[in-house]
Amino acid sequence: MCGIVGYIGKHEAAPVILEGLSKLEYRGYDSAGMAVFDGEKIQIQKSVGRLKVLEELTHGGATMPGTVGIGHTRWATHGAPSDENAHPHYNQEETIAVVHNGIIENYLPLREKLISKGYQFVSDTDTEVLAHLIDYYYKGNPLEAITKVMHRVQGSYALGIIFAEYPDQIFAVRKDSPLIVGQNENGCFIASDVPAILKYTRKVYFIENQEVVRLRVDHMHFYTVDEEEIEKEPVTIDWDADAAEKGGYEHFMLKEMYEQPKTVTDTLMPRIKDNDIVIEELGMSDEEINAIRKIFIVACGSAYHTGVTAKYVIEGIARIPVEVDLASEFRYRNPILEEGTMVVVISQSGETADSLAALRESKKLGHKVLGIVNVVGSSIAREADNVMYTWAGPEIAVATTKAYSAQLIALYLLAMKFAKVRGNLDEGAFKSMLGDLKRLPGQIERLLANKQRIQRFANRYIGAKDVFFIGRGIDYAISMEGSLKLKEISYIHSEAYAAGELKHGTISLIEEGTLVAAVATQDTLFQKTLSNMVEVKARGAFVLAVTNEGNTDIEKAADYCIYIPRTNPYFTNSLAIIPLQLFGYYVAVGKGCDVDKPRNLAKSVTVE
Ligand code: M6R
Repeated sequence: MCGIVGYIGKHEAAPVILEGLSKLEYRGYDSAGMAVFDGEKIQIQKSVGRLKVLEELTHGGATMPGTVGIGHTRWATHGAPSDENAHPHYNQEETIAVVHNGIIENYLPLREKLISKGYQFVSDTDTEVLAHLIDYYYKGNPLEAITKVMHRVQGSYALGIIFAEYPDQIFAVRKDSPLIVGQNENGCFIASDVPAILKYTRKVYFIENQEVVRLRVDHMHFYTVDEEEIEKEPVTIDWDADAAEKGGYEHFMLKEMYEQPKTVTDTLMPRIKDNDIVIEELGMSDEEINAIRKIFIVACGSAYHTGVTAKYVIEGIARIPVEVDLASEFRYRNPILEEGTMVVVISQSGETADSLAALRESKKLGHKVLGIVNVVGSSIAREADNVMYTWAGPEIAVATTKAYSAQLIALYLLAMKFAKVRGNLDEGAFKSMLGDLKRLPGQIERLLANKQRIQRFANRYIGAKDVFFIGRGIDYAISMEGSLKLKEISYIHSEAYAAGELKHGTISLIEEGTLVAAVATQDTLFQKTLSNMVEVKARGAFVLAVTNEGNTDIEKAADYCIYIPRTNPYFTNSLAIIPLQLFGYYVAVGKGCDVDKPRNLAKSVTVE
């Protein structure tokens, strides 16, 4: 996720910015840059690659003199990682420089409008639109121009902006992307996260949505989007630097779980336009969508689990046959890919060796591949014919949570798009599903707020030897992910079973006190799963149930119940997985495991 640092003060700005950006490296990035006002003009240096490259390019900041500047580490969203796409971005006269964290959803129409007014673009980014749009509205009053832009753009943003005509000021604004400002006796700072400025000050102000800050060497002024001045209270940070990188959370995994409402919003909202689903990057005409005869989904680990969910959703609403395969199996089994088969490869890192090999195998067989990928510019993103990005931002914990949630959203959108184009989803059902999708972020937030109850329950199971997860249909797919989350970070053996399969063997493993987590969110399968719960309970199992609000019947067969808010049955995975992630997390924490870096596992599996 992009990182922003800005400084205005008595010292040289570039070294302060470089130091601050180094503290944001944990967020992940692919390029870095700085803009410093040198007394006459705004100078920009930027480069693809590590921060070290920028440090070398500027001799540690020495070639960029000046006491006012903004810097950025970029995590590519719009446009591949490159020197041109790195931030800061200028307006045409190079009198305004902007750094941006977030996504401007309506950047395309704005870009077209600006081009029609004679603006020329040098990058593929959504951010450059902001630089030109500020220029367009700028009539000598920076605050007025910035607030006009805020009224005009949709999406999420944290911005740092400098104007050559106002070299004694930095402006910062935010909406739905984090931004803080701080002050000490030598100047004022902006940053996207506390660690960037912790070396200089512990007194920070958290900027709220739609607020603007004007920073000068020795004071700051805060404004609303309507240019009214407001007062803000500083917060004193008492965390240590390591905790600060995690935003005050104990682990990256917990932080990333809490980012899920935003991740879901970021993956969803840019693709909903005028009550329709628009997936420009799909690169498929309606005729091509109608011609699909079969979909092959190929992935590994949790990404494979989202594929299993997608099979139920795509087959259920779009009526297209779906085969889901583990990439490590697919690549060696000489799969039959007939004409009309679409291949979808899902990967957070975009570098998983088996998934990449499966992609190459499919292309060799003459099939187009759609990549659903999180890391922009990764191998799978580059080699796929089309890429649908999940806008989860960098995921640091080895156990995926927010990228998994984003993949689900991308797949729901794909399923609904196909269903609508192929005439399998009428307008009413489509609208109602869109409404349910938009409600997911708020519902996830509610589930996360319940973490203490799950923590208390998890503490009872830190000594467990085996845990079983059962469910039917989509609930089986949820069980697979719930089981993987628990085992990979807590080292407790766990298995996911299709509930109907239990009595074909696994039920013999149930002993007095064995924990069985039963997922029952599908109303049509509810009674069936209930019967399976009764069967394991009769053999001594302790049954944890995850079901929809209102299904209180389940209490007859369960020892402990977690209720999730009601949504469309095809979307329940997005909600039911939250308590299961929290459960896995708190069991691992209770056992004292290294949650973010579990033994024997790597975040990106680039070898077979
Ligand atoms: O980067 P990818 O999505 O391709 O990674 C696939 C798996 O390695 C990954 O999902 C793995 O199973 C995670 N540790 C699960 O939390």
